Amino acid sequence: MEKRIISSEETEEDIFEKNIRPDKLDEYVGQNEIKENLRVFIKAAKMRNEPLDHVLLYGPPGLGKTTLAHIIANELGVTLRTASGPSIEKSGDLAAILSNLEPGDVLFIDEIHRMPSYIEEILYPAMEDFEIDLVIGGGDGRSKSIKINLPPFTLVGATTRAGDLSSPLRDRFGIVSKLEYYTFEELKQIIIRSGRIFDIKVEDDAAMELAKRSRKTPRVANRLFRRVRDFAIVEGNGVIDLDITLKSLKRLKVDDSGLDNIDREYLTSLIEKFNGGPVGVETIATSIGEEVTTIEDVVEPYLLQEGFIKRTRSGRIATEKAYKAIGVVYNIGFFKEN
Ligand SMILES: Nc1ncnc2c1ncn2[C@@H]1O[C@H](COP(=O)(O)OP(=O)(O)OP(=O)(O)O)[C@@H](O)[C@H]1O
Ligand SMILES: [Mg+2]
Repeated sequence: MEKRIISSEETEEDIFEKNIRPDKLDEYVGQNEIKENLRVFIKAAKMRNEPLDHVLLYGPPGLGKTTLAHIIANELGVTLRTASGPSIEKSGDLAAILSNLEPGDVLFIDEIHRMPSYIEEILYPAMEDFEIDLVIGGGDGRSKSIKINLPPFTLVGATTRAGDLSSPLRDRFGIVSKLEYYTFEELKQIIIRSGRIFDIKVEDDAAMELAKRSRKTPRVANRLFRRVRDFAIVEGNGVIDLDITLKSLKRLKVDDSGLDNIDREYLTSLIEKFNGGPVGVETIATSIGEEVTTIEDVVEPYLLQEGFIKRTRSGRIATEKAYKAIGVVYNIGFFKEN
């Protein structure tokens, strides 16, 4: 029998990711405004034989920033180099990355808001004039500054927190795009596309059901797709139909409000422990054992967008929709107290 060897460094998700990630603008579902604008800017850059202007992509996790960075490089026909904000610690690290670029390359810096500020300052002249000034300690104990010319390149920065970028950095991006949550119809298309790639039929109503429970986020949609595919193969008839989808979702404890476990814990805590607020984000985070950054970057943007919570000066408050989503038990508790 053939043995399957899965490298310990590559998770099932990584392998899935490689197969599923669209690599052309045409395959990238939704975000139409961003897509059509990029199409024009990319075409113009190619016609002028110049690098594309620097691009900043921001928005909540899982909406397709990294995917879009790959697509940009691919559509330009250049190499994508990746780095992440917190991993660039020394000015020499950045200098090495920049001076190794080929003309026209795309440098993708993920989590760009986490780049140290002294690194950020090196990036300014690199973005503006394709040059960097490096300060080097001389043998005589005095330091001197040397200028290095860089090949023209495109910086693509991604962040879940545009507000954390300094304005001089933000201002140096010629193209700034905010990714939006996806519509159910778009998520449905993404799920059907995943089915096509993995050669499993997804029926229309099943795809729509999955779409509705995906937090309006492609990453969540694909994750649900993977799990339901397992159920369909092992316990169903190899087709993702509505029946196996509903059974799988029940087993996965994904309810029909479209909220996931952390969302529900957050809302339950806010409503049960803090009477619906107002309460500070740190307090909620502690009460459910999550990092404040996870709460702020991953959980809250969706809850705010969907109107489950409101942000006020004195803290977060739960809306009526949140009480409904958390369910009868909490409603009774709530009314009993009043
Ligand atoms: N527009 C899209 N069409 C089809 N699939 C998409 C789209 N956007 C994202 N995906 C899929 O969703 C998943 C998550 O996308 P991606 O990794 O690009 O998100 P991200 O915004 O970079 O998230 P993070 O902030 O966590 O880095 C990937 O599997 C990707 O293939
Ligand atoms: Mg990413």
